[in-house]
Amino acid sequence: MAENLIIAETTNKADRYKTLVPQIDALVSGEPDLVANLSNIAAALRQTMNYFWVGFYLVKDKAMPAGRQELVLGPFQGPIACTRIAFGKGVCGACWKEKKVMLVPNVYEFPGHIACSSDSKSEIVLPAFKNGEVALVLDVDSDRLNDFDETDQHYLTQVMNIIEKFI
Ligand code: SME
Repeated sequence: MAENLIIAETTNKADRYKTLVPQIDALVSGEPDLVANLSNIAAALRQTMNYFWVGFYLVKDKAMPAGRQELVLGPFQGPIACTRIAFGKGVCGACWKEKKVMLVPNVYEFPGHIACSSDSKSEIVLPAFKNGEVALVLDVDSDRLNDFDETDQHYLTQVMNIIEKFI
């Protein structure tokens, strides 16, 4: 598809997502490369929703010999971020461990939250599954409290369903 993104001219979040999700589907259809697709998805989300930080952490084998797996930073948009996150640690690690969406209205009240940036105040993290296991998570951060709700969860889940088709 053409490399231009149509952004709904509205401040209504649901309407922006509704315009975005089919474009994300088209953007990755026919392209099997994981890094290329995740990069474009991060950029499309950032361009449309103006998130403070949006990106992926991928479940990978640990670099250390005795290690098993950990989350490793993947394609993202925003300020530099933590490179590795252990199983169960922070919001991303909790999403991986509990295999469910984490919606955190105030990160300072989340035990073990990993502050990559002190500006980050609320967060949503969603898992993508391969063969029943979490293969990666999408992490979205806001510099405002209580910035994510069921609308974000609903449409970002659709994005995760698209991702599950190529991972
Ligand atoms: N806050 C996340 C870490 C990733 S950064 O925010 C980009 C966490 O607690 O898992």
